[in-house]
Amino acid sequence: MYNLLKGKKGIIFGALDSKSIAWKVAERAHEEGATFVLTNAPVALRLGTISELAEKTGSQIIPADATSIMDLENLVDQAMEVLGGKIDFVLHSIGMSVNVRRGNHYTNQDYNFTKTGWDVSALSFHRVMSVLYKKDAMKEWGSIVALTYMAAQRVFPDYNDMADNKAYLESVARSFGYFFGRDKNVRVNTISQSPTPTTAGSGVKGFDGFVAYAEKMSPLGNATALECADYTISLFSDLTKKVTLQNLFHDGGFSNMGISSAIMDDFMKEYEVKEEEPKKKDKK
Ligand SMILES: NC(=O)c1ccc[n+]([C@@H]2O[C@H](COP(=O)([O-])OP(=O)(O)OC[C@H]3O[C@@H](n4cnc5c(N)ncnc54)[C@H](O)[C@@H]3O)[C@@H](O)[C@H]2O)c1
Repeated sequence: MYNLLKGKKGIIFGALDSKSIAWKVAERAHEEGATFVLTNAPVALRLGTISELAEKTGSQIIPADATSIMDLENLVDQAMEVLGGKIDFVLHSIGMSVNVRRGNHYTNQDYNFTKTGWDVSALSFHRVMSVLYKKDAMKEWGSIVALTYMAAQRVFPDYNDMADNKAYLESVARSFGYFFGRDKNVRVNTISQSPTPTTAGSGVKGFDGFVAYAEKMSPLGNATALECADYTISLFSDLTKKVTLQNLFHDGGFSNMGISSAIMDDFMKEYEVKEEEPKKKDKK
């Protein structure tokens, strides 16, 4: 590999199992010479397989619920102690909607669920940055990345209230990123990733069909979790020092497409069948 993160120290949120995007980021960061701590909600640590990843990458696991300031303060203190200094990179790879899990339609949300989903998926990013900022825990020219999805800008009906959570998350990246840049020379960005088969992703209704659709729409095809990890590594490296306050699409070109010939061909097949049916009837 390229030693892009040689000597860098990090905190990686959100590795649950080997499908998680954060899992791939941890594997790639390890290959690139970084040391880091892994963290996840205590319940996820019990359900997932993160200890395998910790062993493989020589990392310590520090539990933290991203909705708890106390947990996050403890995490950052412990991370600096374990890693022996300030933090160079942080990955926020956290998402969960209770409305999606319970099958509530967007137009008929349980607002307590909405609040919980927003707290976990969006406000948590502010909370993480606030703790890092107040503790002055980030090293100069460090990099903070959160993962997001294009439903923040365009309508994807089944993405439900996660669309609103992602819009908030992306806004927090810009607003907090300003202060982190101005005061600490730290950059903050979001990566807007293709649909990716993971535990969180697969919870969205009609996910498999949507993955196939996005694949046909994107000139380069969908970006995989590993490719997302590669891109994330580039944002943690010193090669992207002046990239900040950005929402960066990592989606094989999907976000700038109107229609692709592959999707059009499929549509026309269906359209022609429908056109022919009445003609056949007319002949009778
Ligand atoms: N999979 C996709 O299609 C896709 C596409 C674009 C963006 N994303 C985003 O990528 C990120 C990672 O998701 P993933 O697809 O790898 O799925 P995943 O299910 O593997 O990861 C989600 C993680 O969030 C963690 N989490 C949930 N509640 C938490 C809490 N209270 N405190 C701390 N951690 C908590 C989970 O334990 C899990 O590790 C999410 O922000 C997701 O929205 C995913």
